[in-house]
Amino acid sequence: MKKNTGINLCMIGTGYVGLVSGACLAEMGNRVVCVDNNLEKIKMLQKGKMPIYEEGLEELVDKNVKSGRLFFASSIKEGMMHKGHRAEAVFIAVGTPPREDGSADLSAIEKVSREIAENMTDYTVIVEKSTVPVETCLWIEKTVTRHNKKNIPFDVCSNPEFLREGVAIEDFLNPDRIVIGVPSKKAEFVLKKVYSALSKYPMLVTDVKSAELIKHASNSFLSTKISFINAVANICERTGANVEDVARGMGLDKRIGPSFLKAGIGFGGFCFPKDLEAFYWLAKQKGYNFELLKNVKEINETQKMWIVEKVQQEMWNMEGKTVAFLGLAFKPLTDDMRFAPSTDIAKELIKRGARIRAYDPVSMENAKKSMKGIYFAKDAYDCVKGADCICLITEWKEFAELNFSRVLKLVNHPIMIDGRNLYDPDKMRTMGFTYISVGRK
Ligand SMILES: NC(=O)c1ccc[n+]([C@@H]2O[C@H](COP(=O)([O-])OP(=O)(O)OC[C@H]3O[C@@H](n4cnc5c(N)ncnc54)[C@H](O)[C@@H]3O)[C@@H](O)[C@H]2O)c1
Repeated sequence: MKKNTGINLCMIGTGYVGLVSGACLAEMGNRVVCVDNNLEKIKMLQKGKMPIYEEGLEELVDKNVKSGRLFFASSIKEGMMHKGHRAEAVFIAVGTPPREDGSADLSAIEKVSREIAENMTDYTVIVEKSTVPVETCLWIEKTVTRHNKKNIPFDVCSNPEFLREGVAIEDFLNPDRIVIGVPSKKAEFVLKKVYSALSKYPMLVTDVKSAELIKHASNSFLSTKISFINAVANICERTGANVEDVARGMGLDKRIGPSFLKAGIGFGGFCFPKDLEAFYWLAKQKGYNFELLKNVKEINETQKMWIVEKVQQEMWNMEGKTVAFLGLAFKPLTDDMRFAPSTDIAKELIKRGARIRAYDPVSMENAKKSMKGIYFAKDAYDCVKGADCICLITEWKEFAELNFSRVLKLVNHPIMIDGRNLYDPDKMRTMGFTYISVGRK
């Protein structure tokens, strides 16, 4: 990585995106101050402890803190003027959670925009990194103008983030593309300098609105691909075809591509569900009925319940039956439980009378905060003890490598419902499991 490009940055919001982006931007040679209004988070980080699970993050943070390029602060004021270093670019990476009607809650964005305005002392590039509806940058500009009492010059840019939790550092430092939406050459120059260490990767420079739209359109498209293959899996189940062969056959077509064609129990996490909703809502606001996105969401909701229906079919009566969940997070390598399908699945099974035992290698602490009435096991074997049925919820590697003879001795009944098509159906059946997977015979 290139060192000391000399750009001073402030990253507001030190969550999954802000912390990874801040650490990576420091690794790329920038001087970065990560700010968060969650004091506990900042204190942890100042002690070298990570508030989230992300592979390689602790080492990357530690390295850049020691190199004097990465700092943590609890106020925007301190972040924008840190030990005599003025931030030339201020990134916004705060949360944009969904409101009840599906629209994005942009109140944190408005709040930090005001504070940025109050703390600018010279030309500042304000960079919107959170995922937001198109035209949010316009609102940021209006807000900053309103609170910019000293008339300090500034530009508002869009720089959507495409990293995936679990491989976030790899994604940030080796991106498919960097998108920057800029209103001026001056802002473009600053952002190109920020990303100069990644100059071998494609950088797409657009107007601000197009950059904002790229993120919502991309996430909605990926969600559509997942729901499409899940719908196809349902047809496979009803006809005896095999969804994995169908997906392979489709994916070999270069126009389609193989990624995001893995059938399962639906998408979750902090991005896809909320971005899909927000894009649908935004389209509606603009007078366009983007019905396709509504269907994508409906397919996903139904797909989450696929596993509940399979458990019901096997158990007949759910009252008092024990169901073991292997995995809780919406995907492996993350502790993020936001909008994880496991939450809705557990709720429904409990409603139907089942008892849930669950285990996840890293998301247990977060799960305990949001999931009630569940036994949280100490490992996978403790989890399957006395189970009438096992549900594979998250395809963690350690679940692929389980000692199945041990599992068979621990369960009450050897029923495995594989929501991620992790296991080989023939092998599972040969071992003695009643084995059910998504869209496969
Ligand atoms: N998580 C992902 O994989 C991912 C990927 C790409 C884009 N995004 C988008 O990035 C944004 C952030 O997502 P995240 O997953 O990092 O969320 P997060 O909840 O992990 O992080 C947001 C952080 O902002 C902080 N914050 C909120 N208000 C603040 C304020 N006024 N001042 C300072 N800090 C404040 C919160 O305390 C929190 O630590 C969202 O818009 C999300 O859609 C997320």
